Amino acid sequence: MSDKSMAEYCEDLLKRREKAQAGGGPKAVAKQHEKGKLTARERIDLLLDPGSFVEIDEFVEHRCENFGMGATKFLGDGVVTGYGTVEGRIVYVYSQDFTVIGGSLGEAHAKKICKVMDLAMQNGYPVVGLNDSGGARIQEAVDSLSGYGQIFYRNTVASGVVPQISVIVGPCAGGAVYSPALTDFVLMAQGSGVMHITGPQVIKAVTGEEVTSEQLGGAMTHNAISGNAHFFAKDERECYSQTRKLLSYMPSNNMEEVPVKETADPVERADAALRDIVPTNPNKGYDVRKVLALVVDDGDFFEVQPLWAKNIVTGFGRVGGRTIGIIANQAMNMAGCLDIDASDKASRFIRICNAYNIPIVTFVDVPGYLPGTAQEYGGIIRHGAKMLYAYSEATAPKITVILRKAYGGAYLGMCSKDLGADVVLAWPQAEIAVMGAEGAANIIFRKEIEGSSDPNATRSQKIEEYREAFANPFVAASRGFVDRVILPEETRLCIWQALVSLDGKRVVRPKRKHGILPH
Ligand code: HXC
Repeated sequence: MSDKSMAEYCEDLLKRREKAQAGGGPKAVAKQHEKGKLTARERIDLLLDPGSFVEIDEFVEHRCENFGMGATKFLGDGVVTGYGTVEGRIVYVYSQDFTVIGGSLGEAHAKKICKVMDLAMQNGYPVVGLNDSGGARIQEAVDSLSGYGQIFYRNTVASGVVPQISVIVGPCAGGAVYSPALTDFVLMAQGSGVMHITGPQVIKAVTGEEVTSEQLGGAMTHNAISGNAHFFAKDERECYSQTRKLLSYMPSNNMEEVPVKETADPVERADAALRDIVPTNPNKGYDVRKVLALVVDDGDFFEVQPLWAKNIVTGFGRVGGRTIGIIANQAMNMAGCLDIDASDKASRFIRICNAYNIPIVTFVDVPGYLPGTAQEYGGIIRHGAKMLYAYSEATAPKITVILRKAYGGAYLGMCSKDLGADVVLAWPQAEIAVMGAEGAANIIFRKEIEGSSDPNATRSQKIEEYREAFANPFVAASRGFVDRVILPEETRLCIWQALVSLDGKRVVRPKRKHGILPH
């Protein structure tokens, strides 16, 4: 029989809790703050609804005795795990605590992360990982490596089942980077988040290149150059508000719908300003985001990967409160051509939308694939194929709006009727053809042009003839490749009508293990 009173037991628990809450202790916390970084718990508080966090495994400790580690134990073992809510919906979370052995990952630390991933998958909720770690805990050797392997395995099994989001607010180096890379979205904070496979010292030793850590793997690098990250934040606080907003567009899991958000913006809103954004001259550029802003609820378009492959725009919005995933050619960047990076960016986004059954709305104004040896040698054939694959594979509702140019293979690649678009809408100046009028006339009327007494005049006349005959949406509409030719200001209502009509969409495909995505 114990001679301790209940009050003493409770006091003991509270002391242990206090110790766990303290992480690596006041000195390490002060060092973390000096670096401009928040602690693991402060981060969770900013991410989740106030007071909603429920911690799991706060008393877990490592079992390593190597290199004097038996004397270096911290409650929680360098990662805070549990669940809470974001706008009232449950989200599982892990937050690495750099104040404890540099947030390094050993056996126990990894087990805690795996536990929340398993619970998230079992219960059908998203997982958000806040990464701030020196990587594999060196003293725990192969147990640390095994821990990463177990996380990668779960990242892959959970892919497309529950949303997975990685927030990089500290170092994330070596093989550790592959967990974020396996998740759906990566957000990075400037000044604190750094990802690379090999660091500046190793690079200098091997190749002689000199580069700072921020230049090599900072937030701007991965958002603007490598395309490894999807959101850039000027500081970590912004990362958490971006994560909250991103979660608002995602369902809790692949069997659920995204909640419809109430809006005061009527679906019938017909914005005449839409007539003035897209120039009728097919050679003139404009910012397609201006079109998107006038179509979605309250002008709120949430762009994904805004700094990379800017010739294609991807992101989320709502129409009538319903979440949609948007893919749009960006005429003001490389004339909206499709290239290797744009194909990678768009196809991945399409697959994310499809995995969570988010309707895919494609805005088309595309002159074709970017010409050049760099593109051909870089594999535009296999990269471009990913878009055809992703659109054809997608069984989520697919709505296509042809704003202006839709030429050749790129017309097909931007979710044409033949790739399974459920509803194709076209604006009146849309040109759906094998190529632009000038190129087409130069080829098919070459003999007449060259044999004429005034080749320039004949060329102009033939171009005009071709434009009249084919550079319009009505030829495609006459074949049923375009379902409706609409006024620009009718776009919002037409998308909403299409969304409603597609509510019950069911597609049965042949059974297979999985398809072979072009690489
Ligand atoms: C054990 C580690 C550690 C690690 C940091 N620490 N990383 N302990 N294993 N991987 C400890 C430090 O010894 C230190 O302990 C405390 O954490 C804080 O680290 P500092 O170096 O003082 O912090 P800072 O100056 O901010 O530098 C951060 C850092 C640096 C750049 C991350 O710590 C570092 O280079 N760490 C090693 C990174 C690394 O090579 N990791 C392995 C990567 S390979 P004290 O007691 O002094 O406070 C990898 C493979 C994964 O992860 C494979 C997956 C397949």
